[in-house]
Amino acid sequence: MAWYDVFSRIYDASLEALYREARTRAVEALRAEPGSFVLDLPCGTGQSFDLLCAAVGERGRVVGVDLSPGMLREAERRIARSGFDRVSVLARDAAELTVSDLGAAPDRVHVFLGMTVFPDPDAVFDRVWSLLAPGGRCVLVDVHAASPGLQGKLVEWLARADLTRRFWEPLERRGVAFERHDLPFDRRHGGQIMMAAADKANEPA
Ligand SMILES: C[S@@+](CC[C@H](N)C(=O)[O-])C[C@H]1O[C@@H](n2cnc3c(N)ncnc32)[C@H](O)[C@@H]1O
Repeated sequence: MAWYDVFSRIYDASLEALYREARTRAVEALRAEPGSFVLDLPCGTGQSFDLLCAAVGERGRVVGVDLSPGMLREAERRIARSGFDRVSVLARDAAELTVSDLGAAPDRVHVFLGMTVFPDPDAVFDRVWSLLAPGGRCVLVDVHAASPGLQGKLVEWLARADLTRRFWEPLERRGVAFERHDLPFDRRHGGQIMMAAADKANEPA
């Protein structure tokens, strides 16, 4: 992830405001409860940490996972700066994450701008789905462009992303009560920003 180590130096300055509204909507859709355990994957510089911490309350926990040491360094700075006491970060490849890495199965999974970036999104999704506790909930937010224009291509280059991915499809196949919504359009996203959400079925008694 050498590119994201470089990008981490300007990531917050260039992108923090642009996705703020979508982050708020994603955390609302997660329907975290007081005491929830949220996996934030990839956490990047931790731009969703404040919203996730507020959603899980004092008894809850958030673990942010990312592969880039540079992005995680920024995330740790954010934690120190903001005094968050219920977030920790972990350096892992999303495709290899285990429950023992996390200490427990999360009951919420938040994947914001990850599915178009992971080299093998299907493998990551399968992994994440296997980690999610039965009865838990998963929210994916990403940008989609069936045929990226100039701005889309710029975003693809900058984020090392593939905006043509129908990123919601693995969740649609596996989840219960699947829903997908467009979020407010901004041409700077390079395509249509969308949110997909679904629950994981409870195990039969
Ligand atoms: C566009 S950023 C999104 C970060 C964050 N979710 C946000 O909303 O700002 C994509 C992130 O994916 C991370 N990433 C890419 N491949 C990964 C992998 N296989 N495992 C974990 N993180 C990965 C990158 O390091 C980068 O921080």
